[in-house]
Amino acid sequence: MHRFLVFFVVAALAACGSKFDGKPPGTEKNVKVSAVLTRDEAMKLATRGNCIACHKMDDRLAGPGWREVGVRYGSDPKAASLIANHIENGGTFGWNMGYMPMRGGSTLSNAEIDALANYIATLR
Ligand code: HEC
Repeated sequence: MHRFLVFFVVAALAACGSKFDGKPPGTEKNVKVSAVLTRDEAMKLATRGNCIACHKMDDRLAGPGWREVGVRYGSDPKAASLIANHIENGGTFGWNMGYMPMRGGSTLSNAEIDALANYIATLR
């Protein structure tokens, strides 16, 4: 019985696992993504989520450049989860550049946002 339950949970997790972190989207806040996205993968997500209407990697647009975001958080171990929360909830984060809409107005999943946040946190 116990074994069966464990099997079921593992199978259920595998079934809804995302390409990015292997966990069902939205179930965990402080997801540590095992493999950080490549720049190309990050840009694809940013394009699909239309983040690029307001952001670039290396320069400011309507919002801060993502590299300066990574630099600002430095080696804070909570950087990725803080950034992910900011993207999900929108708002202002001390850049004095205006207000970011929730999820940037996109329909990116939590797992996709976590993956992007993890990538941004590695930029220097
Ligand atoms: C309509 C414009 C707009 C869109 C679209 C947008 N952002 Fe933003 N974003 C902003 C602004 C403005 C800020 C800075 C807010 C401030 O002044 O503190 C910001 C800030 C950020 C930050 C910095 C957070 C921090 O903790 O300092 C990140 C990371 C970010 N955005 C990621 C994204 C991602 C990922 C997307 C796409 C899903 C996105 N943004 C879409 C306008 C936008």
